[in-house]
Amino acid sequence: MRILHVSCSPRGRTSESYRLSQRIISQLRQKSPNATLVGRALGEGTIPPIDKDYAISQGSSADVSQGGSMATSEELIRELESADVLVVSTPMHNLTMPATLKLWIDHIVRARRTFNITQSGKVGTLHDRPVFLAIASGGRFSGEHAQQPDFLTPYLIAILGMIGLHDITIFSVQGTGSHGDALATARIATDQLMLKYFASLGRGTS
Ligand SMILES: Cc1cc2nc3c(=O)[nH]c(=O)nc-3n(C[C@H](O)[C@H](O)[C@H](O)COP(=O)(O)O)c2cc1C
Repeated sequence: MRILHVSCSPRGRTSESYRLSQRIISQLRQKSPNATLVGRALGEGTIPPIDKDYAISQGSSADVSQGGSMATSEELIRELESADVLVVSTPMHNLTMPATLKLWIDHIVRARRTFNITQSGKVGTLHDRPVFLAIASGGRFSGEHAQQPDFLTPYLIAILGMIGLHDITIFSVQGTGSHGDALATARIATDQLMLKYFASLGRGTS
């Protein structure tokens, strides 16, 4: 099994979302001890914005240069295609995703490559596979104590679904900006949910 870990926090390996993703990856590895891990760290802004030729290619089937963003896109799509499981770790930034994650999406969601435009709408071309989203947020965005709208998880579900990825499981540590024991309590609650989820999968998901 091949795991692709896309990590998006500018705080890198010290980040809350990264910590949560490591817990998820550890569970995946327990299920599949021979799993290999490929890391794609986006947090420091490693992917540039899409360029002009790429933008032109999305609006028409005109021939454009296959260098620049097209080459980056192809590399990122192949990396995703070769993964059996995708883990995305991300903070919530301004009610949605960090710009670095949006840039990755702009490169992997590509017309006539990872989705086709049909009369009945956009249809993904990727085969489905498990996707885990590990999210950290300073406040709460779900549940009865939500303090803000959530433009992060509905968007990720919609955009990944558009390219064919529907098997999405979300774990989040919310309220990292809280004082006292609140963060520790949130971590424990998320860990318990996650352990319960993986226990329910049973064995043999190689
Ligand atoms: C630019 C920026 C915007 C943020 N916007 C939000 C927000 O809209 N909602 C929220 O709950 N937390 C927000 N936060 C707080 C982070 O989500 C929080 O610190 C989170 O735990 C960071 O996760 P990380 O350690 O994985 O980077 C923001 C943080 C930054 C740096």
